[in-house]
Amino acid sequence: MPKITVFDSAGNEHNLPVDAGAALMEPLRDAGLIEATCGGAASCGTCHIYLRDDWVTKTGARTEDEGYMLEGLEDLVEVKDVSRLACQITVSDELDGISMDIAPQI
Ligand code: FES
Repeated sequence: MPKITVFDSAGNEHNLPVDAGAALMEPLRDAGLIEATCGGAASCGTCHIYLRDDWVTKTGARTEDEGYMLEGLEDLVEVKDVSRLACQITVSDELDGISMDIAPQI
């Protein structure tokens, strides 16, 4: 089972197990770290994360809807090259150890 490392806004580290095939958003939501109010439809922006290290190169390209949502967030929070919506990333064994920061909530 892949594990992920998440740093919340206070800098606290959370190590969470995730089922392969689940959306990366799910463990973040279940741990109470994000709201994920749209349920994974790339339309709320509350699952915005900043991937650490070089993980952004291993998660594939942003989806089209994700790109639009992140554009819409730019006036509210900093959107970085390593910004992703966690609901648009499917966890696989290859992503074991992925680490990220929760972006400032909107
Ligand atoms: S859960 Fe709403 S954008 Fe990801």
